[in-house]
Amino acid sequence: MNILVVGGAGYIGSHCVRQLLAAGHTVSIIDNLVYGHTQAVPEGTPFYQQDLGDIEGVKTILRQDKIEVVMHFAAYAYVGESVNEPFKYYFNNFVATLNLLKAMIDEGVNQFVFSSSCATFGTPEEFPITEDTPQAPINPYGQTKLDVENALRYLSNAHGLSFASLRYFNASGAAEDGSLGEDHDPETHLIPLVLDVALGKRPSVQIYGTDYDTPDGTCLRDYIHVDDIARAHIMVFDKLKEPGAQLFYNLGTQKPTSVREVIAAAEAVTGQKITVEEAPRRPGDPAALYADASKAKRELGWEPQFKDIQSIIETAWKWASRHPEGYQDQAKA
Ligand SMILES: NC(=O)c1ccc[n+]([C@@H]2O[C@H](COP(=O)([O-])OP(=O)(O)OC[C@H]3O[C@@H](n4cnc5c(N)ncnc54)[C@H](O)[C@@H]3O)[C@@H](O)[C@H]2O)c1
Repeated sequence: MNILVVGGAGYIGSHCVRQLLAAGHTVSIIDNLVYGHTQAVPEGTPFYQQDLGDIEGVKTILRQDKIEVVMHFAAYAYVGESVNEPFKYYFNNFVATLNLLKAMIDEGVNQFVFSSSCATFGTPEEFPITEDTPQAPINPYGQTKLDVENALRYLSNAHGLSFASLRYFNASGAAEDGSLGEDHDPETHLIPLVLDVALGKRPSVQIYGTDYDTPDGTCLRDYIHVDDIARAHIMVFDKLKEPGAQLFYNLGTQKPTSVREVIAAAEAVTGQKITVEEAPRRPGDPAALYADASKAKRELGWEPQFKDIQSIIETAWKWASRHPEGYQDQAKA
């Protein structure tokens, strides 16, 4: 199939591109490089440095490359920033996504895979989180993801669009060969921050809140390996072929892991002591977020291959220790 990967120079998109190519698909990539890395783009893969705001430019690519499926990873994803700069998030995550969808419908491309998020659930009261858990985002980032999900339903009803909205929990880890990984600037995700301490790039990592009603008092999250997320994008293809399909899947390991457990696992993997700094809770951080991913298992046959935090951190450490400066170090791979 001819697949367009939007945001394919970013963290999750680049892992997905690699799997799509390995599975024999023809891939084109759009990324405006606001956060992406050209070093993460495989040689020989058509790459368009293009912003989604340019609807005519997107249409031309869809037409020229005879695109059949669009995978949409491009978004801003800093929750705190979204609270302070909501316009930025509404324009890039919602309006630009509508541009992309309009371009697709105008060009007769009707299969779409969307990077949604557990942030659409806000602070849920029931666990684990199923696809039917009420969605009530508590910040503009999560709201824009939910707004896209709702727009997809209406566009599907009106135009026959088939879509899969994949709600990732905490994407983590790196390609097993250490050649692709997480390189966000600024970095806000726990595992790369902890590994920065192991590398001596940061003096300590902060634990926000040690008095939650959880087994060790720190927040529980569901860390899901980036390659497991990428696999789900391919496993959903068959179902997408059904015209007007409207698919929602939670992608997680179903296993809650605390901040302290992540730090202990990182110490075991790296052999380094991780200095921590206990800090007050951050507003809006739920005590727990973990998935019930049984629907993806039942309907797609998808199951995470990386089931425990240590195996995920091993891959992240391989990437981080080989590329302490991220993609700037690519030449040293
Ligand atoms: N990382 C996570 O834990 C996580 C969890 C849930 C959902 N998600 C979602 O998954 C997707 C990918 O996340 P990521 O961590 O790989 O992010 P990322 O920032 O590494 O990748 C996103 C890519 O999109 C590009 N981009 C952004 N706006 C664009 C635009 N207007 N036009 C063209 N390109 C644009 C960026 O340059 C970047 O390369 C995002 O939609 C994010 O909201 C991520």
